Amino acid sequence: MTEQKATNITWHEANVGQEDREKLLNQKGCVIWFTGLSGSGKSTLALEVESKLHQRGHLTYVLDGDNVRHGLNKNLGFSPEDREENIRRIGEVAKLFNDAGVIAMTAFISPYRADRDNARELLDEGRFVEVFVDCPLEVCEARDTKGLYQKARAGEIKEFTGISAPYEAPSQPELTVNTDSLTLNECTERVIALLENEGLIPVLQ
Ligand code: ADX
Repeated sequence: MTEQKATNITWHEANVGQEDREKLLNQKGCVIWFTGLSGSGKSTLALEVESKLHQRGHLTYVLDGDNVRHGLNKNLGFSPEDREENIRRIGEVAKLFNDAGVIAMTAFISPYRADRDNARELLDEGRFVEVFVDCPLEVCEARDTKGLYQKARAGEIKEFTGISAPYEAPSQPELTVNTDSLTLNECTERVIALLENEGLIPVLQ
C-alpha cells in the first residue's frame, strides 16, 4: 500500500457524476486492461479496438506503456519496485478516465498479478476488464518488433520481461486472446463482443 503523505485534505463531491456523463455518452466508463509480453500485440490490439469503438461513436482513450513512460512515468525504470509504481499510477489514471465515463484501454506488460489486482480493486465491480494478450515467448521474440529481445539476449538490457524478469499470466482474466493463432480482426471482435455482453456498450441494432 502506498502511504498517504498529505494531511488536512478533504474529498469534494462533484455536482455532475459518473452516471450523468455516461448518459451523455451512451456507454459505461470502464477500463480494458491488456496485459502480456512485450511484442505480444497489446498496443496494436488496443488501438484497433479503439478505432472500432470510435467508429461506433464511443469515447475512448488508450494509455500505452512506451508513451506513458515518456511523460507521467519518465522517472521510472524496470526494477520490480518501479514497475509496481508504474502500474499503480496507471491504475489511478485509468480510474479517473472511468469516472469521466470514458472507455480507457491500458497497454502495459504489467507483469505482476498483484499489481493488476490492485488496479482492479480501485474500480467498481464489472468496470475492470482484464484481457490476457497471450502469445508464446518464442513468437514475441521472433517478431522482435523493437529489436529489444535481441539486446536482452545479448545482456545489453537487464531485467527484460520473459528473458531475465518474470511475467505472471492472469489466472482469471475476463478474456484471453491468442495473437499467434487469431487475426487482429478476430481478437478485436472478441473484445468488442465482451464489452457488449458485459453491458458496457450497447449492441448495434
Ligand atoms: S511494465 O512492466 O512496467 O508494465 P511497460 O509496459 O510500462 O512495462 O513498458 C514496457 C515496454 O518498455 C516494452 O514494450 C519495451 O518496449 C520497453 N522496455 C524497455 N526495457 C524493458 C525491460 N527491461 N523489460 C520490459 N520492457 C522493456
